[in-house]
Amino acid sequence: MPAPLAEHVNGQPAFTTIHDEILDRAGAQLRLYRLDHIPGALNGNKAFKLMPAVTEALRNNAFGLASFGGAWSNHLHALAAAGRAYGLKTLGVVRGDAHAPPGAMLEDAGRWGMNLHFVSRSEYRQRRDPDFLAQLQARFPGYCWLPEGGSDLAGVQSCAALGRALNNRLETGEMIILPCGTGGTLAGLLAGMAGGASSVQVVGYSALKGAGFLEADIRQWHAALEVTAALPGWRIEQRFHGGGYGKCNSDLQAFIAGFYRRHGVALDPVYNGKMLWGVYRQLAAGELQGKRITALHTGGLQGLRGYPDLLAEMTQMGFEGLQQGF
Ligand SMILES: Cc1ncc(COP(=O)(O)O)c(C=O)c1O
Repeated sequence: MPAPLAEHVNGQPAFTTIHDEILDRAGAQLRLYRLDHIPGALNGNKAFKLMPAVTEALRNNAFGLASFGGAWSNHLHALAAAGRAYGLKTLGVVRGDAHAPPGAMLEDAGRWGMNLHFVSRSEYRQRRDPDFLAQLQARFPGYCWLPEGGSDLAGVQSCAALGRALNNRLETGEMIILPCGTGGTLAGLLAGMAGGASSVQVVGYSALKGAGFLEADIRQWHAALEVTAALPGWRIEQRFHGGGYGKCNSDLQAFIAGFYRRHGVALDPVYNGKMLWGVYRQLAAGELQGKRITALHTGGLQGLRGYPDLLAEMTQMGFEGLQQGF
């Protein structure tokens, strides 16, 4: 697992400070913590969330790891990459049609040896149903099963390393932000901050529409981890889902291209692009006056391949991030 918050990640500074006139006008400061620079099969938040499952599977000589996701799931992509890197079989239960063109993510996963098992939308909805899981386990024996998004308890606990490391590096009143899908990374981050930096404010930007369930899920993880020390203030920002999970409209695409042009930092369309798009809309509305913000960049850049025009525009500007490691 990478040492969290080392000064450098993969030879590049761990933090990137963003300067522009929009931030200046608001008297705000923004720095990115570059989990996207973590090298190897497990990049971004996956370096924390998935490493315990991989370690456990290797320790137990498990046959392999299985999990769930959609056709553009970063989680399945990372699982397939980890399986290839660590010599584990992988199985992806994919919501979608086996006969549809696979898309770049599934092509990678298949090339890296992931066994892809397609299920209908209605079957996919049963992914937490014990009978459905038992059927899958009988059909594909020997795998260790991870929930969608890889947010099992060990993965959430592993993300606490991020919070523990951040505790000593924050200023009073600082805002820590990160994108949320299942909320597992946020739950872990908060658990690691418990009893530490009480004066900071943590905000998870939901990539999903209708994410009202996230707060309760996060509380459940904290109960399961027996977190009793005081947490910093936290909340879920639900306004910037951009139409729903995996939706990236032309405004958001223009923001991602413009951010790359101005700052040379690539953002993915599903999570980090949405979060910072939200931040800049808040800045424009005068909401974040004077704030000092640290944003976790959680990776996911492979998702840019779902938007070929945006990727082509960024490539023209010099982006070559997807040429390494994919
Ligand atoms: C790049 C990226 N950022 C953020 C998230 C959200 O993480 P979580 O599901 O732990 O909220 C994910 C999903 O795992 C992701 O792939």
